[in-house]
Parts: sequence; structure tokens; C-alpha cells
Amino acid sequence: MSPRRLVRPLIPLAAPLLAALLFGTSGIFSAASAQTPQPKAPDTIESRVQGCTACHGSHGQGTDNDYFPRLAGKPAEYLYNQLMNFREGRRKYPPMNYLVTYLSDDYLHEIATYFSQQRPPYPPPAKATVSDSTLARGQAIVLRGDPARQVPACAACHGAKLTGMEPAIPGLVGLHADYISAQIGAWRSGSRHAKAPDCMHEIATRLTDDDVNAVAAWLATQNAPQNPVPAAAGSLKTPLACGSEPQ
Ligand code: HEC
Ligand code: HEC
Repeated sequence: MSPRRLVRPLIPLAAPLLAALLFGTSGIFSAASAQTPQPKAPDTIESRVQGCTACHGSHGQGTDNDYFPRLAGKPAEYLYNQLMNFREGRRKYPPMNYLVTYLSDDYLHEIATYFSQQRPPYPPPAKATVSDSTLARGQAIVLRGDPARQVPACAACHGAKLTGMEPAIPGLVGLHADYISAQIGAWRSGSRHAKAPDCMHEIATRLTDDDVNAVAAWLATQNAPQNPVPAAAGSLKTPLACGSEPQ
């Protein structure tokens, strides 16, 4: 039996396990599922990612939870890099680290490809909860950057439509403001890493707290464009080198 076949059943099992983790019924739940033979679910990718959809939405569209990100439509290599990052500890969120610990590279790739191909609608943009001047500041940084502090425009890499670029730069539309600021904070504090040179670490450390709030608030209030696909690979020359997006 290949290692890949061995790990497959983990995903359907992850749902009860995780429910146990989240709702604190651990002993009861695992004991019950060990004794009762479970009906075999059909072995499709949809059934295998069921353990993911409670937090990421049935098609990876995200949920109302401010910290659970949308996965749908992000480039496959980006999603794959993140699953590897969680598996190897370069990103930290215990339920995610736990879920991918024993999954093979091939399997993570299959999951990443699946979510990259999903096209569920975007949530309605958030209502602004910050001042107009904060929103204007956020917009300016995203679209034009802040040359005085060597902050490049976010759109220079994430695309004019902010839908990312193949193969490994994610879109920034459809994410909650709290998720965005938490990720930038994680880059600054060193709890999130990408392949070196880690351009997002560079950029995150050049932003002030006010900048981060402004950028996150403005991004979350944007509508997704008509055709929300990532820009073609190599269509933008990134202003800084990024290890995860070699050019
Ligand atoms: C308990 C809720 C939960 C479950 C279940 C879960 N995730 Fe996550 N996932 C999260 C959270 C929260 C984050 C963001 C963590 C952080 O702060 O970095 C995340 C991040 C991710 C990311 C990175 C997204 C990005 O845009 O950078 C990917 C990819 C991902 N999850 C895939 C999966 C897959 C595949 C599964 C099923 C095997 C899964 N998740 C199950 C909560 C969950
Ligand atoms: C030089 C290119 C570049 C620029 C400029 C850039 N980014 Fe990024 N960004 C990246 C890359 C590459 C990644 C993926 C990193 C990884 O693999 O974890 C990324 C990832 C992100 C993520 C993670 C998204 C998620 O789903 O978890 C956020 C948030 C982000 N960038 C915000 C910004 C903001 C805000 C700006 C402008 C202030 C910006 N980026 C400017 C290249 C760039």
C-alpha cells in the first residue's frame, strides 16, 4: 500500500475528530467512533475535504468567522505552499498543523488543486467601520504604495484586480479585515514565514500599525471583479524578489 492510500481516510475522520477538539467531547467521540463501524463514504475529493469545509465553507468560499480564510480560486501552488507551511511549522494554527501533519505531498497537492478550481460567489463586501481618511490611506497603499518608506503597491504583485498571480501569489479580495491584519502581524512577529527571500516579511515590517489597519479595512470593502481569476504567471514583474514566486 502506498503512503498516499494510507493517509486518505484521514480527511473524513478529521471532521469528528475536529468536532471533538472544538466542542470538547473528545473522550466520548473517539471512543464511540472506534466501536461503531462507520459506513464507507465514497472516495471522492469532495468527501475527502469534508473535514475542511466546516471552517473554509463547502466550496472553500470562507465563512462568517473573521479568521477563517477563503481558499477558493487562489492559485494552486499558493495553497500548496501554505499546506506545506502548516505541515512544517512555518505557519502556526494548531488545528491546521494537526490536520495536515500526516498528509503526503501528493495529497496536499490534490487538495490545493481542488480548492484552486472552485468558483463559489464572493461574500458581499464588508461595510466600512473606519473613517474615510483611513480608507483613503488604505487604498493609496494598495494601489500606489508609499515610496517614501519603500512600500511597494500591493497591486504590483497581487494584481491590478487584486485576484493574485499564478502560480503562487494569492488574491486579496474576499478576505476579512481581521484575517488580513492578523496575517501581516504574523509576518512581522515571525510566526508566519514564506520561502526566502520572504518579500511579505519585508513589506510587513515597513508598514505601521495604522497602515496595516487601513489596508485591511480598504481591502475588505472591495467588490470582487467580474472575472476573478489570478493574473497569468509572469504578467507582472514583482518589485521585490519573492522566494515563492520565482521570476
Ligand atoms: C478548525 C477550523 C479549520 C479547519 C477544520 C481547517 N482549516 Fe484551514 N485554516 C483555518 C484557519 C483559522 C486558517 C488561518 C490560520 C492562520 O492564522 O494562519 C487556515 C488556513 C488555511 C490555508 C491557508 C489559506 C491562505 O489563504 O493562506 C489553507 C490552504 C487551508 N487552511 C486549507 C485547509 C484544508 C485543506 C483543510 C482540511 C484538511 C483545512 N484547512 C481545515 C481553519 C481551519
Ligand atoms: C513583491 C511582491 C508582493 C507585494 C508588493 C505584496 N505582496 Fe502580499 N504576498 C506576496 C506573496 C509572494 C505572497 C504569498 C506568500 C506565501 O507564500 O506565504 C503574499 C501573500 C500575502 C497575504 C496572505 C494572504 C492569505 O490568504 O493568507 C496577504 C494578506 C498579503 N500578501 C498582503 C499584502 C499587502 C497588504 C500588500 C501591500 C502593502 C502586499 N501584500 C504586497 C507578494 C507580495
